[in-house]
Amino acid sequence: MRARRYASGNRALRGSFGARAQASAAEAYGTQVVDVAGILGTAISPADPDRAIIEPWASGVGGRILDVGSGTGRWTAHLDALGHTVEGLEPAERLVNLARAHFPGVTFHHGAIADLVEADRRWDGILSWYSLIHMGLGELPEALAILRTALRDGGSLLLSFFSGPRLEAFSHPIATAYRWPMADMEQALADAGFADVAQQMGPFSAHAVMSARAIER
Ligand SMILES: C[S@@+](CC[C@H](N)C(=O)[O-])C[C@H]1O[C@@H](n2cnc3c(N)ncnc32)[C@H](O)[C@@H]1O
Repeated sequence: MRARRYASGNRALRGSFGARAQASAAEAYGTQVVDVAGILGTAISPADPDRAIIEPWASGVGGRILDVGSGTGRWTAHLDALGHTVEGLEPAERLVNLARAHFPGVTFHHGAIADLVEADRRWDGILSWYSLIHMGLGELPEALAILRTALRDGGSLLLSFFSGPRLEAFSHPIATAYRWPMADMEQALADAGFADVAQQMGPFSAHAVMSARAIER
């Protein structure tokens, strides 16, 4: 199934957020110049410390998981191999093709968060592993709101990002990225319709993880 199936009818939202965010991410991660597969890898090492965060979270979801910004497909395939029902969503076509070639038994959709606006289904869990890192104040709040609508009520979001004392852009090997203060990210999650925000890592770490529950509205 291609992301076209998610095609949005909310033109105002797509116009202000979707086209811009999707195009820039797809361009940055889709270029041949950047060895994204070399940077991210295509497999999860047995010693990868993030396993201790992602695996228990996935087990707690107990349903269908969407890996948003799945990149090379490494976490999608890893969770699939553990027996979870999971599929990937990725805007860079080159990475979608790479993921499909490496993991032919796993479903990868070509599309971006904006394409979820009118998704005809809901997920029980959304993994967003460093996939919002290129979004600042102008994009991240809307992206979180879309992820909220893509989750069933009570569904769970697991989000990793770069944190810092102030919201600021910084140079990243692939595209400009942002550091988000923990309090600002918590507020953005609350504004988007999430509650029970839990920090999975220390507030002073540059690499932050939060889980949050989609609340009934
Ligand atoms: C740092 S990589 C992480 C990839 C993957 N989650 C992992 O941990 O291996 C960020 C990913 O987010 C994707 N991305 C960026 N903007 C996105 C958007 N608006 N919607 C969905 N994915 C996006 C990029 O294309 C890229 O694959």
